[in-house]
Amino acid sequence: MKKKDLTRRQFITTVSAGSVAAAVSGAIPAFGNITILNNNTGKLAILGGTPVAPEKLWPEWPYVDEKMVDAIVKTTRSRIWCRIQSSTGTVPTFEKEFANLMGSKLCVCTGSGTQALSTCVEALGIGPGDEVITSPYTDPGTISSIITSRVLPVMADIDPESYQIDPDDVERRITENTRAIMPVQMGGQSCNMERIMAIAKKHNLRVIEDAAQAHLAEYQGKKVGTIGDLGCFSFQASKTIACGEGGAVIGNDEELMDKCFTVQNHGTNRKGITERIGPKYRMNEFEASILLSQLQGVKERFAIRNRNAAWLTSRLKDFPGLVPQKLYEGTTSGSFYLYMMSYHKEHFENAPRSKFLKALEAEGISLSTYLPNGLHKEPWVDHILTSKVYQKMYSSARLKKYRDELNCPNCDKVCDEMAMIWASGPLIGTREDMDDVINAIMKVYDNRDKLNSI
Ligand SMILES: Cc1ncc(COP(=O)(O)O)c(C=O)c1O
Repeated sequence: MKKKDLTRRQFITTVSAGSVAAAVSGAIPAFGNITILNNNTGKLAILGGTPVAPEKLWPEWPYVDEKMVDAIVKTTRSRIWCRIQSSTGTVPTFEKEFANLMGSKLCVCTGSGTQALSTCVEALGIGPGDEVITSPYTDPGTISSIITSRVLPVMADIDPESYQIDPDDVERRITENTRAIMPVQMGGQSCNMERIMAIAKKHNLRVIEDAAQAHLAEYQGKKVGTIGDLGCFSFQASKTIACGEGGAVIGNDEELMDKCFTVQNHGTNRKGITERIGPKYRMNEFEASILLSQLQGVKERFAIRNRNAAWLTSRLKDFPGLVPQKLYEGTTSGSFYLYMMSYHKEHFENAPRSKFLKALEAEGISLSTYLPNGLHKEPWVDHILTSKVYQKMYSSARLKKYRDELNCPNCDKVCDEMAMIWASGPLIGTREDMDDVINAIMKVYDNRDKLNSI
């Protein structure tokens, strides 16, 4: 019987038996315990077969409902459009509600996640001559928030399985000028915050959590974003809580949070006195009205994403071809802004990732590669190393060492292997939607011997 004529159940049985022989022969064994969902074998759609999920409609994102539309209309009619017009407007109200939701004392909103991070760097008094250690596997906003203050962003490599900053490499890269660690909570999951906090304590460093992707995620009984000195979030359109562009800083230290307020308010404090350096990063009332009305139902959507993610992960258990993001002990939930996996081509007859993704897309399921390369490989590096300002503020020996040490091999590997779902919308789909994802992956796996020819 040809493989393409087999049902999924028959194929699993065949593979399981085959895996014994493969193991004996030293070849990579095939997996054998994916739960049977439906009959999805047959010709690949890219080769003319029937797609697993033709014209798939995912839940649309950003989330919109009538309450949000009404809220925008109400704000428009109120003529209160700027946060300083009212102490009870949508921005101050959202700040209170978001702080409550996150289990934090205080919140200061900004116009973006990048601005939130930048506010923290300024508020902590970190400036030219100083260094902040962060991850190269992140959005450019992370780096931007550091270089905007003319600070040196030192890249620590990541863990190849969790995609999170590697605490050992963080510690190796600390110098006498290091002032803070900016761990990126990649995918909306926690870094190894226990280690990061211990390193920060040992070396007397501040911790600014880049939790831009990690709304409501929990680690060791705390919400991600509340573990470091300050935590930053993004409400950019793709995020699990979104208003187009927006951001927030959360924290418990009142004095520090007051500084954050002053920084994002062009250096003017809550009493109206202009007292320090600060850009104007204020969130406007339209953004907060969308956010406020979107908070209703946010926990429910968060729970659905976590349930669906757990289902996907359980379906991929023991399948070596596509391995979900490793979570650190103590992780109880994630935002699932991204559902991240690594593609291991050795289990797909060495077919390049691009062919796997092409075949999968023809089945109706699109996965993304996320970043083409880590940010340590982008031209901003040359820009700062050749800029007069950086050459004035940092010795030539330091800048040379910086360039020489700009290698993050694990990050390079992750960029080559990543295959992920933009999950804010898709992961609030149904169980059947999740099954479609798995069925399409397994169908391509079943047909892996054809991948190199497409
Ligand atoms: C990890 C990370 N950091 C920072 C940012 C910047 O946030 P924003 O786009 O709101 O400026 C993002 C946004 O995608 C992000 O994912």
